[in-house]
Amino acid sequence: MEKNNLFDFGMIGLGTMGRNLLLNMADHGFKAIGFDKDLQKGKLLETSATPGTTVKGVDTLEEMVKQLGVPRKIMMLVPAGKPVDDVINSLLPLLEKGDIIIDGGNSHYTDTLRRVNFVRDKGFHFMGIGISGGEHGARTGPSIMPGGDPEAYAQVKHILEAVAAKVNGSACVAHLGKGAAGHYVKMVHNGIEYAIMQLISETYQLLHEGEGLNNDELHKVYKNWNEGELQSYLVEITRDIFLQADDKTENRLVDMILDRAGAKGTGKWTSQDSMDLGIPVPVIDIAVSLRDLSAAKEERIQAAALYKSTHFKIEVPREVFIQQLADSLYFSMIVCYAQGLALLHKASSELQMDIPLPEVVRIWRGGCIIRAAMLEIFYTAFQENPNLPNLLLDKNIAALIQAKQQHLRTVIMHTVQTGFPVAGLMTSLCYFEAYRSEQLPTNLIQAQRDYFGAHTYQRVDMPGIFHTEWASFDN
Ligand code: 6PG
Repeated sequence: MEKNNLFDFGMIGLGTMGRNLLLNMADHGFKAIGFDKDLQKGKLLETSATPGTTVKGVDTLEEMVKQLGVPRKIMMLVPAGKPVDDVINSLLPLLEKGDIIIDGGNSHYTDTLRRVNFVRDKGFHFMGIGISGGEHGARTGPSIMPGGDPEAYAQVKHILEAVAAKVNGSACVAHLGKGAAGHYVKMVHNGIEYAIMQLISETYQLLHEGEGLNNDELHKVYKNWNEGELQSYLVEITRDIFLQADDKTENRLVDMILDRAGAKGTGKWTSQDSMDLGIPVPVIDIAVSLRDLSAAKEERIQAAALYKSTHFKIEVPREVFIQQLADSLYFSMIVCYAQGLALLHKASSELQMDIPLPEVVRIWRGGCIIRAAMLEIFYTAFQENPNLPNLLLDKNIAALIQAKQQHLRTVIMHTVQTGFPVAGLMTSLCYFEAYRSEQLPTNLIQAQRDYFGAHTYQRVDMPGIFHTEWASFDN
């Protein structure tokens, strides 16, 4: 094949994300070729292409590989787990030394580490890249989180920069560290995504059931919020959701959707890893738990009957409550990002990934699901101190949090009285309270551990490790 006719980039897996990202590449002048074992998807790829761009769907991996210029740049966007290993195994015999395989899906970072070593030992490059932005983002500009193999990154950098979202002219892509850093950062992105979605759903319940707002009124509240300091992709889509009509009934679609949340695992992985690294991310934990609790619909129906669950009206004037809630959401969203970024800070050193936190925050400002106006403030904080262990230690952020905290307390007081399960908002406040406490009651826990298990303790007045034979006063 003539060198000029060779393709620049190959995609395996032409589902929504794979197809749209490949079309995005073609829109930026790259010759794009794709394969999916469902041959219809190859056809759809071609018919969805912008006229004048070079896009081809092929029926076999072999056809794709032989039409790619070397070093071949091949991304797969297939479900995490075994499908990724299957694709690697089918690809390897077809490649030449120096070719680059990229996993653009939501793989667990430990799988990515294993694959990096496996593929490198065979003479090829392998990179894990997190991609965020959903269908629309993939086509028009996602946030891209590559990590590992710098040589491979140098080969694909220009393509990724061309297709990524742009904020003030800078592309939302950066090399985010060693090994599986790209997938690690994407995992934490998703943990934050879960947490913010939980918080927004709590504000919805309070406004809808507590204050009695209908869907049109809800739309207006989130619209206003999205025009101010709460501006963010997740608030923006929430605004739109309330106006979407159901095509099967006369109702709004949101009212016809079963309250049972799905999850593919990335939020849970974030929580699991935070436990391993000893960095608390309790708003993410609670978001994962509440999705699980929502899935237990039948049990909830029984419990609702048993405990006569009633949510009372919130007796606060509507406009006052909406402002209190806006401040509560703002406070709690900052806490979500603080927890996720604190985890990245620890993982960066503990897992030897060298993750540049200012770059993470910079590329999260556009294209991704957790993009939000407040990331500009975080970006400034990390530029001033790239090693900030927790956003809450930044003076500007402290001032913002201080200004909002009273409203969060007030909202939580109302929800305790009215019976709404606002676990995310409550957890945000509790995390903040504990984090800013010079003294916690953990001295008692240490005493208990030493009492029943001789686990020892340290003292406040002298260095060393101590154990006491605790006396029983059972009389
Ligand atoms: C993104 C999203 C995406 C994720 C979905 C599904 O950044 O574009 O994070 O990658 O897969 O949000 O997540 P759950 O099905 O687990 O909610």
